[in-house]
Amino acid sequence: MNLIIFGPPGAGKGTQSNNIINSFDLKQVSTGDLLRSEIKTRTDLGKKIESLIKNGELVSDNVVNALVRKIISDSKNFNRLIFDGYPRTISQVYTLEKLLKEFNQKISIVFNLNVDKDVVSKRVNGRLICTRCFGIFNVYFNPPDSKNHKCEKKYLEKRSDDNSKIILNRYETYIVKTKPIISYYNKKGLLLEIDGNQKNVEIYAKIKGILENIRD
Ligand code: AP5
Ligand code: MG
Repeated sequence: MNLIIFGPPGAGKGTQSNNIINSFDLKQVSTGDLLRSEIKTRTDLGKKIESLIKNGELVSDNVVNALVRKIISDSKNFNRLIFDGYPRTISQVYTLEKLLKEFNQKISIVFNLNVDKDVVSKRVNGRLICTRCFGIFNVYFNPPDSKNHKCEKKYLEKRSDDNSKIILNRYETYIVKTKPIISYYNKKGLLLEIDGNQKNVEIYAKIKGILENIRD
């Protein structure tokens, strides 16, 4: 099965994707992570991406669609992808449809994590990520310690776009450009609304229960 985890910045898309890959044989495709890897190449494209992300703007559809195409076209990933943070525009929705059709696949379900704006802001401000194991932590809700994180502390970082000012812009970008595409998946009967304000374990219990009953 292929699925989409949808929601505003800080909704818990990455956290739930990590939960899912721990119990299902699926692969996470976070376009945010792919773009951050691109920045590390220090190419002209990488620098352009960096400046867009730093300002909470979307990267162009062409760039993002090309990254996703590489992954969908790889036979190792056939029918086992979790799209996290993609698609984010209606043009990306149509490209994803086209790509999945070309490679004989489809989306089985779209989870929409609904989270209030003030919750998002606190989550993003408290986030720490591990650059080594890609673990996602939070100084308020899930602090890294010797039980949940095995890497050295030096690998823990704040994301450069995780501050109070940029989060407002990221949230606004989400409302204007990304949220409208929910109705596309709703009309297709693929949308499942989840209350993302709940605790991580409660959200995951719901997602897991649903995925266990999908047979494709
Ligand atoms: P991206 O990296 O995708 O960022 P985002 O969409 O803003 O989402 P986040 O990663 O911030 O949040 P998340 O929902 O994954 O939450 P997480 O699980 O980490 O994109 C970054 C940028 O790249 C974009 O702004 C754009 O510029 C560009 N980009 C990416 N994709 C693009 C695309 N398709 N097209 C164009 N541009 C694109 O959780 C957040 C925090 O909350 C963590 O600390 C976590 O521990 C905590 N937490 C999670 N769940 C809970 C819970 N239930 N209770 C308490 N705390 C929780
Ligand atoms: Mg994320």
